[in-house]
Formats: sequence, C-alpha cells, structure tokens
Amino acid sequence: MRIAVFNTKPYDQSFLEAANASHGFELVFLEAHLSPRTALLAQGCEAVCTFVNDPLPVATLTALHGLGVRLIALRCAGFNQVDLSAAARLGMTVARVPAYSPFAVAEHAVALILTLNRNIHRAYNRVREGNFQLEGLLGFDLHGKTIGVIGTGKIGAIFATIMRGFGTRVLAYDPYPNPDIGVEYVTLEELLGQSDVISLHCPLTPQTQHLMDARHLALLKRGAMLVNTSRGALIDTPAAIEALKSGQIGALALDVYEEEGDLFFENLSNSVIQDDVFSRLLTFPNVLITGHQAFFTREALENIARTTLQNVAAFASGEGELHRVALEQVAPIS
Ligand code: NAI
Repeated sequence: MRIAVFNTKPYDQSFLEAANASHGFELVFLEAHLSPRTALLAQGCEAVCTFVNDPLPVATLTALHGLGVRLIALRCAGFNQVDLSAAARLGMTVARVPAYSPFAVAEHAVALILTLNRNIHRAYNRVREGNFQLEGLLGFDLHGKTIGVIGTGKIGAIFATIMRGFGTRVLAYDPYPNPDIGVEYVTLEELLGQSDVISLHCPLTPQTQHLMDARHLALLKRGAMLVNTSRGALIDTPAAIEALKSGQIGALALDVYEEEGDLFFENLSNSVIQDDVFSRLLTFPNVLITGHQAFFTREALENIARTTLQNVAAFASGEGELHRVALEQVAPIS
C-alpha cells in the first residue's frame, strides 16, 4: 500500500522507515501540512498519515476521498482535528495511536518543575558567560511540599508516583479516582488552596477549557508553581499573566499553549512573533516554556511509528488490531 505521510520532520521519517522494515509499505514523505490544497499530493495513495496539527475538515476529507484515500492514519492520540461525521459519511476509516509513552510526558513535567524551581535554565546561561553569582537562583526543597495533580489517568498517575518519590504529599483531583496510586483525592478547591506545585494532566474538554481561569487562579496558595504539559487551553493565558504580575502564581512551566498552532514545531527564529500574549509570557524570569516536546522521546516515537503502521496493516488485511476512532467517541477539544 502507498501511504502519503504529511507534515514529515526528519525524525518522523527515520522512525517510520525503521518500523516499515517489517511491513514494506510505500511511504511518500511530504513536508507540507495537510490542507484541501495539498491533499492533491496524496494522488495514488490509499492511506494518508497525519499529525496533531493537520486539520481534517470536510473539504480536506472530500478531496482525499476523491483521490481514492480510504484510511486516515493519525500518528497521535488526539483526534479532535478530524471531522469524524464527515469521515463516516464518506466511508473513510480513521485510526490513531491511543498511547505511546505516558512516562515521556510525566518525566518532562518533572524536568520542568526541577528546572524552574532551581533556575537551571538561568544558571546554564550565567555559567557559560562566566557569571557564578547565586543571586536570583534560590529554589526550595521539594521534599515535604504538597503537589496537586489534576487528572490521574495514565500520565497523571505516573507523575504522582514520581513525585511521591521526592518525599512530597500528593493531592489529586479527578472525577474518576484511582485507588491504586497512593494519593489523597480532594476537591478542586482544596487542591488549589493547599498545593505548592500544581500539574495539569486532564484532557481538554468543554468542562476543562480555561479550568485555570481568574477565579480558580485566585484560589491558589500564593506563589504556587503551575505546570501544564496537557493542552494549552486548560489555562486562560491572559488571566495567568495577571496572576504572574501580582505574584499569585510564583512560577509557570508550559509545554503547551492555547495558540501554539501558529508557533510550535517550526523554526521561527528569523521571524517577528505576532502573538503579544505569548511574547509577554517570554518576558517573565519565572516562566519556562518548551514547544510541545513532552512526548518527544525515542521510545514514544518508536511506539508511534510501530502502532501507526500496524493500524495500516490491520486496515489492509482485515486482521490484527486497528485502533479505529469511532464517531461516537467523545472528542476532546484542543
Ligand atoms: P488519560 O485519558 O489516561 O487521563 C486523563 C484523566 O483526566 C482521566 O483520569 C480523567 O478521568 C481525568 N479527567 C477528565 N476530566 C477531568 C476534569 N474535569 N478534572 C480532572 N480530571 C479530569 O490521558 P493521559 O494519557 O494521561 O493524557 C493526559 C493529557 O496529556 C492528554 O489529554 C493530552 O492533552 C496530554 N498529552 C500531552 C502530550 C505532550 O506532548 N505535551 C502528549 C500526550 C498527551
């Protein structure tokens, strides 16, 4: 089978080529994002493979269907970017990679906390410039502190377990508590009021959109650290900027940002960033941002490539596990 792989970065290509050794599909690597205009590049392909930032509205699906494409193989877990009803009407199958490495994301959240708390990012630059002063680098012991975990699914549960290893007290909030991870479930308000560090690990849904708004940020223990490796729109960013200015948020670590679609995954170092909210975030000494890289480990990329091609193989042969996205699945938004 011939597969058009859109939005390919060099690392996608190398991991997919390695995983393809046991399949022998014809992979057509394309740098272009998928859009109604670039859909034509899938000419002669029965499947397309896309990433989280390739929208698949009805116009794109119709164009692909007209070319004979019957499978959309998403190389990500989220599927909110796909018009599932249009795909179903067209008789197209949508498959995804439901889980690839919860450890990758949980460990990245811990890396952000340690870096921001001990100012490793600032120390790195200072030392390289011959400045060995400690002023401004003061952190706190994590040991004995209270950590709040919002969402204790696959990633949140691993994060909680790692944080317990630091000798912290872990509070959690989740509508579906997990009794096996040794944390204390409390109300959201209690978690916000008692935690020194709060890490978000819930999906983006209509209920969680702007969960951290001005009202909830006002409930934080003053000076708490907030960490978001989940989805950008969990935080109302202008409200977070006000809370940073007043000192209500003591430190903010982000791997995701509500408007990241125009920024992340590309080299914009020679461009003028037009997003003033994002630019304001970059001015704070107590804000640390990474560009949606929490998932980015060798193990995660291997799992993504392997499952993506297994989905294609299952679709082609009618045998094996196909991680199909069903129309009735509630799509998180992002
Ligand atoms: P999961 O589905 O295993 O767990 C999500 C948990 O959130 C569930 O226990 C659920 O009950 C809980 N939840 C739902 N609504 C909630 C609410 N209103 N308040 C508190 N908890 C709520 O998902 P998983 O695999 O742990 O992923 C979590 C999130 O991490 C994903 O939704 C995604 O947004 C993000 N993610 C980020 C990546 C990155 O590279 N930065 C990569 C992969 C996932």
